[in-house]
Amino acid sequence: MPKRYLKAVSVPLSRILLALLAMSITGCVDGVRSTLNPLGPVAERQMSTFMVTLWVSLVMFAVVGSFLVYCIMKFHHKGEITKDTPLPDQAHGNALTEIGLILVSVFLVGIIAVPTVQGVFYVGTVPTDEKVYEVNVTGLQWWWKFEYPEYGVVTANEIAIPAGRPVKFNLQTADVLHSFWVPRLGGKMDLNPGQDNWLWLQADPDMLAADAKELSISEGSPRWEHLPKDYPFQGYVLYGQCAEYCGSSHAFMQFRVLVLDDANFQKWVAWQKSDAKSDLPEGERSVGQQLFTREKCATCHTVRGTNARGLVGPDLTHIGTRTSIAAGWMENTVENMGKWIQNPGAIKPENIMHTTGYKHYDKWGGLVNNPQIEITDAERDVLAKYLYSLK
Ligand code: CUA
Repeated sequence: MPKRYLKAVSVPLSRILLALLAMSITGCVDGVRSTLNPLGPVAERQMSTFMVTLWVSLVMFAVVGSFLVYCIMKFHHKGEITKDTPLPDQAHGNALTEIGLILVSVFLVGIIAVPTVQGVFYVGTVPTDEKVYEVNVTGLQWWWKFEYPEYGVVTANEIAIPAGRPVKFNLQTADVLHSFWVPRLGGKMDLNPGQDNWLWLQADPDMLAADAKELSISEGSPRWEHLPKDYPFQGYVLYGQCAEYCGSSHAFMQFRVLVLDDANFQKWVAWQKSDAKSDLPEGERSVGQQLFTREKCATCHTVRGTNARGLVGPDLTHIGTRTSIAAGWMENTVENMGKWIQNPGAIKPENIMHTTGYKHYDKWGGLVNNPQIEITDAERDVLAKYLYSLK
């Protein structure tokens, strides 16, 4: 191949390689959120449709591309081109070539269209041959409210689903556009103001067992050490993400989906329905609870079993059982809980708790906003410990 062709090809190629390298470093090729590694029938169907499209496109690209390169090399004009250089022979009007190309294109589009149309009906129809679980999802800047209307369960940023069962997610937003996405279970769906969208997803127990060992949780896993002995914990943690830009903290609007077997799922439901149980000694618990009410936390948050009944922020009844805090962004530990209470704006810019609540300082010691509530470091620690104890 002449050198000038090599040069023309090598520049874009090096840019593509650089982009791929950047993606792998920044986490775009991230196993736990990879759509190329499905863990349920919806995700599997969508991936197989993608693969059919990809292969048809690749074959088309290879054939057309090779033909183009061959023609350029063989038929390009030798010598200098001037305004008197005649045009080469034009193939226009060759009926066989033109009809042949149309037929080949229709055939290739047909190969893609069959699984695509089948897939559209598949994801648009909830299978009704077994019980369908329903979850009402509300997106808010920047967290997720989850409700099981059938069971009277309300939780935030972390939901459990039973493995091997279809789950219908009813999607609404309380403010702006968001998009609900659990990459390992299926494609995303927008939450549009004033519109009732939904999608169904299912986690497959065999696929989980074969392909999601790094996501499994069981007795003895470090993140479950703080849980009571009878808490249902055998299962998997999948990661979810808001996939529609919804403001400055969009990237921090994450959530987690616990996939449990039927027995553990029923235990989880019973646990979540119950009032908060604190594992702190009575004295410490009541000091924490009083502080929670006195410092107006209860204006925005609910802790069932106490008089905290606020509905603005996430329900905190069982916050100590969750794997994460701050909408899936931080692991759930007493230290992280304290950091969050101290300065939520440093973790999730412009969130409502930051903009309406606490007195706190920036890293140079300047007062950040207009404080309505001021707590000491000691009080912060009591609050963090109290919240972490809510099981
Ligand atoms: Cu919600 Cu992006």
